[in-house]
Amino acid sequence: MIFMEKPEYRERVVELSKGAESMAEIGVWMGYMSWMVLDQVETLRDYMMVDPWSMTYAKNAIKEDALGGRGQEGLDTLFRKISNRCQARHPNARIYRMTSEDASHHAEDNYFDHVHIDANHAYDYVKVDIEKWLPKVKSGGLLTGDDYNQAGVRQAVDELLPGAKIEKNRLWIYETP
Ligand SMILES: C[S@@+](CC[C@H](N)C(=O)[O-])C[C@H]1O[C@@H](n2cnc3c(N)ncnc32)[C@H](O)[C@@H]1O
Repeated sequence: MIFMEKPEYRERVVELSKGAESMAEIGVWMGYMSWMVLDQVETLRDYMMVDPWSMTYAKNAIKEDALGGRGQEGLDTLFRKISNRCQARHPNARIYRMTSEDASHHAEDNYFDHVHIDANHAYDYVKVDIEKWLPKVKSGGLLTGDDYNQAGVRQAVDELLPGAKIEKNRLWIYETP
């Protein structure tokens, strides 16, 4: 199977974000994607970063070995590092340490040029992510996400976003009408 490696996939998301002024990333983890976008998308004025950094929500979102046995303490440390880096280097970033659904209440409708979803990959969660964040994207903007090759993601995207473009059986891209 042709497989889009993580760096290649992130480079593609950066490419899709070129020219964006407002973006949201749902599921931030260690910030790999965030730093690439924040460093490379020069037009960006507002970057909303959403993640609970909580063991309660780690299932279906982070591989067991990536947690490295550090548990909640590790996630708290990670959150502090992310916050410190944003404070030092990215004044256009704002962090919401909460679930996707809760954070959606802090976002305006028809506001974002691009929302990228990469959180819990179980069907029920992806469905809620799409339902909550699609209205937040401007007309002609992008709602994208990772891991279309996972069953829960595929089912939710196929059901809710017919016509979404799939790249390398991994990245899904939906342009809002
Ligand atoms: C695959 S990682 C994100 C990787 C990141 N986008 C990147 O490319 O570097 C998934 C993240 O989703 C977060 N997550 C899990 N459930 C969530 C939810 N309901 N709302 C928001 N984030 C969630 C997890 O805490 C985890 O950090």
